Amino acid sequence: MDRVKLGIVGLGRLGRKHAENIHYKIQNAELAAICSVVQEELSSVGNEMNPKYRTADFMELVENEDLDAIVIASSSQEHCRMLCAAAEAGRKKVYIEKPLGMRIEEIDKIKNAVQANRGMMLQVGYNRRFDRSVQAAKKKLDAGFIGTPIQVRMINRDPAAMADFIIKFSPTSGGLVMDMLTHDYDCARWFVGSEAKSVYGLGDAFVYEGLREVNDIDNCNILVAFENGVIGQFETSRNCSYGYHVETEIYGSDGCIRIGTVPEKDRVTYMNPTGVYKECVEWFFEYWEPTFCAEMQHFVDCVIQGKEPLVGLEDGYRAVQWACAATEAVRERKVVEIG
Ligand SMILES: NC(=O)c1ccc[n+]([C@@H]2O[C@H](COP(=O)([O-])OP(=O)(O)OC[C@H]3O[C@@H](n4cnc5c(N)ncnc54)[C@H](O)[C@@H]3O)[C@@H](O)[C@H]2O)c1
Repeated sequence: MDRVKLGIVGLGRLGRKHAENIHYKIQNAELAAICSVVQEELSSVGNEMNPKYRTADFMELVENEDLDAIVIASSSQEHCRMLCAAAEAGRKKVYIEKPLGMRIEEIDKIKNAVQANRGMMLQVGYNRRFDRSVQAAKKKLDAGFIGTPIQVRMINRDPAAMADFIIKFSPTSGGLVMDMLTHDYDCARWFVGSEAKSVYGLGDAFVYEGLREVNDIDNCNILVAFENGVIGQFETSRNCSYGYHVETEIYGSDGCIRIGTVPEKDRVTYMNPTGVYKECVEWFFEYWEPTFCAEMQHFVDCVIQGKEPLVGLEDGYRAVQWACAATEAVRERKVVEIG
């Protein structure tokens, strides 16, 4: 195969971005089919990109033998049903957005369905691993630049400007830890090459009462003990007043690696009589934009070359397993053992 025909379900905030990337940017790929339950999305993407097939029924995508691979970018609570349906129908090449599922029963069901479909290749959308800085850090880490890793610290702050959207999105996102922190956890376990053993956390709805009403929180800090002894610390917030801020630090016996300590928008510095300043990144799409393209190109390359993707079933499973334990740790203010 030298050209991959893709069908995508979900054309919302992220699905539309994936559809655009596939249509305009990804090499050796064709946006052949689109699926959404929102008619305006189907018309808008359909009229602009003109895919061969349009449907509101996901099963039509699954059963369409003209497609080589499927991209699932629907709402998180649909992931388990859709992925299991694709696996049970014998689909061999699937990309799915994070999180894999929302509960342990869901990811167990997914694991069984994927493993029963022998030879199935699954990529999970932890896009940060495709960031150039993250990859450079991983390379240096593996080469022993900081000696033995001792602590990994992540900061992940969403802009306050997105609060209304977040409150609306919360009931279908799985909450702060599942929605946001699985990205940090996925990177952390990739960096330190180990799984979390236990987790403890503190968090609350400090700013948005609307989140409390749906049993969600807006700020938390989570402490993780990895099996290899590394200490992980994950701080996150939904009310960052100055924009979008992600930061990573891996500290070891012989040094330290930091990524993104100042969330600067670009390389411009402004100066006038009031002082010197730089503008801040506004939101996650702006910061991670190139990674969405890179991860989809990776998926298409894996389909063509028959390679295993960088982020697969086990990674997706571990991230959700961790998020369930961390959510419980925060809600019940106790140490939760994992596995
Ligand atoms: N990797 C990242 O950084 C990142 C960023 C944003 C979102 N996401 C993930 O992407 C997924 C989608 O998020 P979003 O913000 O684009 O959501 P959204 O609400 O904007 O869009 C959801 C889409 O799913 C479709 N959909 C829902 N149920 C369906 C069904 N039964 N049949 C067909 N289509 C259906 C809707 O029609 C819509 O197009 C989520 O799982 C989210 O966690 C990942």
